[in-house]
Amino acid sequence: MDWGLENRLKRIFKPQDGRTVMLAVDHGYFLGPVSKLEEPGKTIEPLIPYADSLMLTRGVLRNCVDAKYDVPIVLRVSGGNSIVGKDLSNEGITVSMQDAVRLNVCAVALSIYVGAEYEHQTLTNLAKLIDEAQNYGMPVLAVTAVGKELEKRDAKYLGLSCRIAAELGAQIVKTYYCDDFEKIVKSCPVPVVIAGGPKLKTETDVFQMAYNAIDCGAKGVDMGRNIWQSEWPIAMISAIRSIVHAGASAEKAFGIFSELKNK
Ligand code: R5P
Repeated sequence: MDWGLENRLKRIFKPQDGRTVMLAVDHGYFLGPVSKLEEPGKTIEPLIPYADSLMLTRGVLRNCVDAKYDVPIVLRVSGGNSIVGKDLSNEGITVSMQDAVRLNVCAVALSIYVGAEYEHQTLTNLAKLIDEAQNYGMPVLAVTAVGKELEKRDAKYLGLSCRIAAELGAQIVKTYYCDDFEKIVKSCPVPVVIAGGPKLKTETDVFQMAYNAIDCGAKGVDMGRNIWQSEWPIAMISAIRSIVHAGASAEKAFGIFSELKNK
């Protein structure tokens, strides 16, 4: 592996355990000012010390994150759709590789929509992005679909999406946790991280999902709403870190969360 590519990957996946806690704050690219991310800077800044990387758009990066922070950036480079538009899967590449390099990012991220109307377009977007990224030693993270496609949240569908992303050359795949998750991880030859999805009912549900994913072989989380839509985002991300980096159980993580939330 080329040094630049390896260095970027190792800034995201911590060399001591090969795992990562990525903080996803890219939601505005199609959801606009989603709850608790109305003022991105205010939500993001207190969480930076706890995040192994930030996943976000160039607009939020340039305008809402101080360049003094040494946090690896995973830049969302797909979009062109919205929650009120006709079809979420109708995405294009929205950032040039030159701008991604200018922003000094550690990876670029793009969504694929397997089974959707624009499946072909999103998959060829991924292939083109990987060709371009390869020239710069830039890792590519493929995100498996959100929206209507997510109704098919099972190992068969998500396993298909993850494998296709890896076959096209993505270095990291982000997907959702589901039953038989170990099958997805086993059949995907690159690191898999999980998204959190919409806010779950209880903190324990979040910790159990993170624990199960890691136990099944996921290399980390790329989580958003279940952290920053919580009343206690620092306690949430700290507890999730304990699962990802210290092998804590969901119960232990809840203990850490409870202690921190009362501070
Ligand atoms: C969705 O496409 C975005 O890429 C989010 O980054 C992703 O869904 C993870 O955030 P959450 O944990 O809130 O689902």
